[in-house]
Amino acid sequence: MAYPRSVRIYEVGPRDGLQNEAAEISTAAKLEYIRLLRAAGLREIEATSFVSPRAIPQLADADELIRALAGHADDAVRYPVLVPNERGFDRAQAAGARALAVFTAASDAFTERNIGMSVAQSIDAFRPVLARAREAGWWTRAYVSTAFGCPFTGRVGPRRVVEVSLELAELGAHEICIGDTIGVGVPGQVHELTGELIAAGLPRDRLAYHFHDTRGTALANVLAALREGVACFDASTGGTGGCPYAPGAAGNLATEDLVYMLDGMGIEHGAHLPAVLEAARFIARTLGRPLASKVGQAGGWDAGTGLAVR
Ligand code: COA
Ligand code: ZN
Repeated sequence: MAYPRSVRIYEVGPRDGLQNEAAEISTAAKLEYIRLLRAAGLREIEATSFVSPRAIPQLADADELIRALAGHADDAVRYPVLVPNERGFDRAQAAGARALAVFTAASDAFTERNIGMSVAQSIDAFRPVLARAREAGWWTRAYVSTAFGCPFTGRVGPRRVVEVSLELAELGAHEICIGDTIGVGVPGQVHELTGELIAAGLPRDRLAYHFHDTRGTALANVLAALREGVACFDASTGGTGGCPYAPGAAGNLATEDLVYMLDGMGIEHGAHLPAVLEAARFIARTLGRPLASKVGQAGGWDAGTGLAVR
């Protein structure tokens, strides 16, 4: 089938990108980062997590951060936050959030370590969260992590991913995001899984993919999903990211790499490469390391002018 004419880029840098970082990053620096992302035309920015501060100390300032963002709320930009339980929903609501993501996985071994629940228990925990979010008119997403492989039990087949995705869709999550948490999937698997999800009744426009570039397959996987008509992709400026509970989960697909490819293919997305690179450089500087993404190193083209940008 033809590629979608436009796609949504769902930026996860402030959440997935920072959650595993040891360096102390001030709330002010996070807000500046988010300001640069917004200035780059990104319209969905996963901002933080309302999880246990003991589990993810780097995002312990979620309440303050969301309060500051909600203060200059802009209807054109969505700031989803991760919520693991009703306690997290209470905090997110009090801070002024209006979009959330719940997160489980295709593997019990992973969810046990990540959120202290089996997959079935996590779905039970999300039921009231998603119900309350719906009542409050929030946008909601549900992640199915470790969709191609689990760091503890190995390869994951499509059947379990389809089962979990359908349960989450039935609970009313607007979007189901399939996560390759440790970056082991390849295009043939994306093709197969996407076909099975759609055949099982999940509409394309409720599907998103979250690829990690751990083994260099993220863009190839995006292309495989585009060919199936999927039109929402997660990415992190600078290619930061990784889950502390998933050993070896280095590097989300870099937003600048995704933007470069989509620009070249003529697929609309709303972001502007030079400004994305500015945000990527800001966060690399803040983390005190070089910009590791391919386009971050080599530069790209400005989609408007066709001139080289670095
Ligand atoms: N916000 C803040 N604190 C929370 C919380 C929330 N949403 N939910 C639970 N807590 C606190 C509890 O009060 C308790 O605090 P205490 O140790 O000071 O008494 C502690 O967290 C543990 O809570 P408990 O209910 O016993 O659950 P748990 O220990 O099984 O932890 C989670 C469950 C989900 C709270 C925890 O595993 C977690 O936050 N995981 C997040 C993992 C993550 O974000 N991974 C990266 C994304 S892929
Ligand atoms: Zn991730």
